[in-house]
Amino acid sequence: MRETADTALLPQELLDWYDRHARVMPWRVGPADRARGQRPDPYRVWLSEVMLQQTTVAAVKSYFEAFTARWPRVTDLAAAEDAEVMAAWAGLGYYARARNLLKCARAVAQEHDGVFPDTREGLLALPGIGPYTAAAVSAIAFDRAETVVDGNVERVMARLFDEHVPLPQAKPLLTAHAEALTPTARPGDYAQAVMDLGATVCTPRNPLCGLCPWRGACAAWAAGTQAELPKKAPKKRKPVRHGIAYLARRVDGAWLLETRPETGLLGGMLGWPGTDWVDIETPLPGEAAPIRAEWKTLPEEARHTFTHFHLRLTLKVALVPMDRAPERGEFVPPEAFRPGDLPTLMRKAFDLGRPR
Ligand code: ADE
Repeated sequence: MRETADTALLPQELLDWYDRHARVMPWRVGPADRARGQRPDPYRVWLSEVMLQQTTVAAVKSYFEAFTARWPRVTDLAAAEDAEVMAAWAGLGYYARARNLLKCARAVAQEHDGVFPDTREGLLALPGIGPYTAAAVSAIAFDRAETVVDGNVERVMARLFDEHVPLPQAKPLLTAHAEALTPTARPGDYAQAVMDLGATVCTPRNPLCGLCPWRGACAAWAAGTQAELPKKAPKKRKPVRHGIAYLARRVDGAWLLETRPETGLLGGMLGWPGTDWVDIETPLPGEAAPIRAEWKTLPEEARHTFTHFHLRLTLKVALVPMDRAPERGEFVPPEAFRPGDLPTLMRKAFDLGRPR
């Protein structure tokens, strides 16, 4: 590890780099506009930071544009129906984020007159805001000297200080390095600058050290270890789980769907009724069929990978008459059904199960 005495100049060197190379993003006020006094909208900063957790900038952009066009202020989002927001989130994944997003928007609207608290502690007290989001919003929206640590920042710190302790064990150590560097001047720009450096220069593979403003100070560069860092504890293999989903189409073209329970995977999202997802290859259909019908099993399964397991979903399809009542779910008429409202797994099932 390097000495701290020679790290004093690093923040300013990175800010100079950011002034020239900041990425343009729809939620960002760039360094030139900030220098002219423009301030970011805390609602847009918060929304973008929630969307960016476990999700790439490229995937987030169109969702961010759609959300802010439809709900320009936090009070608009707070007033939206749960189902509308869940449908608009469909495809982004990690759906607990969308449920927490709504809880937070409603708390800001109802308890804070639609104005976000401007400190880390105030933000942390809101439902659905954790340490990452509280630090990011207080730094970026309110220019507070908070330290924002995401995967990019961890990688940059591991290399700058040549830390070989593997992740996740190294997190506290890397966070301490990041905190020690955080400047009181322009902390909002600085937080985004470290993330941009990690995303565009100090990349996971083949880092572009020749372009790096911190190369002269980088302990990994000096040691030639940058490509090996950060070290990571070996990943556990994901188990395979199995389930059955039932796609019932009524003769008028309506599909039998249900809103999944609030808690659990894909909570609050629209989906096909089905069995639980279990570790054995042939889950018992049991009472899971949502309506009496002649079910046909499709030759192809819907496959999807979640954080902790791979899922293989057997698909059963049936055409049912108008007068038969379902035991679960509700028929959604064709004019009201938007496949884009389904989370990715359920959308894959639909693409395999719809008449072609
Ligand atoms: N990743 C998450 N938040 C970010 C931000 N504000 N700037 C750049 N990358 C990010």
